[in-house]
Amino acid sequence: MRNIKLPAHIAFIMDGNGRWAKRRFRPRSFGHRAGVQNMTKLCMHAYRLGIRIVTVFALSTENLSRPKEELDELFDLFRIYFGKKRDKLTEMQVKINVLGDISVLPEDIQEEILTVTRETAGYSDGLLNICINYGARQEIVRAVNTAVSYGRFVDEASFKDLLSTSGIPDPDLIIRTGGEVRLSNFLLYQAAYSELYFSKKMWPAFGRRDLERALANYSARDRKYGNIEDD
Ligand code: FPP
Repeated sequence: MRNIKLPAHIAFIMDGNGRWAKRRFRPRSFGHRAGVQNMTKLCMHAYRLGIRIVTVFALSTENLSRPKEELDELFDLFRIYFGKKRDKLTEMQVKINVLGDISVLPEDIQEEILTVTRETAGYSDGLLNICINYGARQEIVRAVNTAVSYGRFVDEASFKDLLSTSGIPDPDLIIRTGGEVRLSNFLLYQAAYSELYFSKKMWPAFGRRDLERALANYSARDRKYGNIEDD
């Protein structure tokens, strides 16, 4: 991808695993498994292209009300991803950061997550933020309450520091697959000036070429941040 203006930070709303599986007459868990594989493939591709930060929406706070059976399958995927396959994950030399309230997860998964984040803390080839039990409204309300408990007013800079993305630049580009055209409580504060890209493809089918198409589309956009165009 030459002569292209790459985003420093991209975020993925990985929607459509269930429908992708259903179309193949397979259970939803099959779609989630394919979704994790695709996530790893696309993250690697993004880092290879020179994108430094990738954020993925792995489980929203609202997803936690899904049937227990589906949640157990998703938890098993977390177990494999953070536990059994940890070597593969730490091989990437990418720092892994988990955003969201993981205290609701089974304890063994919480431990695996802490181990991975500790083991990768010094890596600097890239940053991977994995949002689990994450909800943007909840994040904003928590930040407001923290400011109130400190008894202080905030400005934009100090408020940002109270969010779970403290120290991380806002996403330049948010890609959502699966055909829905909304943010679904994802990074609402941070997305103020993000470029949005929606694909009708289901997440497991969204491949490297699709990512490159999204990046080319981003590159052609004019980001004005509320300002007027340069001559
Ligand atoms: C939405 O698609 C996707 C999810 C609720 C979970 C997505 C999670 C992963 C792809 C990976 C999990 C991450 C790790 C780190 C192991 P959906 O199932 O709601 O699909 P649908 O809209 O077609 O029903």
